[in-house]
Amino acid sequence: MNLMIEEQSSCCKRRDRPSGWSKSNSKPKSDAPTTQKATERLTLVFSEPYAGSSFNGGNLKAFRRLLQRTPVYGAYKAVGHYPDYWYWILRGRPQRSPHLLKQKVVRAYGERFGLKTLVETGTYYGEMVAAMKSRFARIYSIEFVPALAERARRKFARDPHIRIFCGDSRIVMPEVLALLTGPTLFWLDAGYYSWVGMQPDKQRLSAELEMILSHPYPHVVLLDDARGLTGQDGVPSVGDVTSYVESKFPQRTVEVEYDIMRITLRK
Ligand SMILES: C[S@@+](CC[C@H](N)C(=O)[O-])C[C@H]1O[C@@H](n2cnc3c(N)ncnc32)[C@H](O)[C@@H]1O
Repeated sequence: MNLMIEEQSSCCKRRDRPSGWSKSNSKPKSDAPTTQKATERLTLVFSEPYAGSSFNGGNLKAFRRLLQRTPVYGAYKAVGHYPDYWYWILRGRPQRSPHLLKQKVVRAYGERFGLKTLVETGTYYGEMVAAMKSRFARIYSIEFVPALAERARRKFARDPHIRIFCGDSRIVMPEVLALLTGPTLFWLDAGYYSWVGMQPDKQRLSAELEMILSHPYPHVVLLDDARGLTGQDGVPSVGDVTSYVESKFPQRTVEVEYDIMRITLRK
């Protein structure tokens, strides 16, 4: 199978407003996940040779796509995080934040709240897992695409404190929650409103937040790509999510900085 992932500049293409979010802060409705359809579409994306791999799109793009098929792609991306970060600063810190900053935020929240376990949705190439592997005593990461999950399992095979789960995060989340023995940091980064080749499950984010925030431990949640919460074309706004969380879980507070929504315990 060709492991060919089309990277997107944004994980959050706007689609229809998930019906679980409402301006009136009502509880999200349930809806069956569209896992089968998503799997069928992904099978196509991940099994066909990439049609656009000519050099027309630029040598760098072609080179990167070639690298994606190799085990060194993670290292290549990790090196790229530094220029990416400085370029972001030079551009005046635009809304879309670089991965290095995301790593800093995840690390800072782990330290600030004394959290020893990290749960990630959306493993991708395991960059966040790799960056956090010496910072957390346990890391659980959930990836929908079997080829990516398998690749991450191989990558972290020598790290017994890291477990990669394969499946839809909404489905796998209860299994992961059942493993937790204390407050945990959640890094929700699984393309909630769009990911290439996938049909968005419009209830997924609300369903996962509900599960996490109802769990007996006072977990801390970081949601990446908050800019995707536009309140347009069927996507909830930051305000929708904030009022849902703060009304349903009054002991929680929500803030957004550097494109990351942070849900913590009210002081
Ligand atoms: C933005 S990338 C994750 C990047 C990674 N968290 C990091 O920081 O390095 C999004 C990932 O979410 C995965 N994904 C999309 N939908 C998913 C779902 N329903 N369940 C689990 N993973 C999903 C995609 O396959 C992709 O690998």
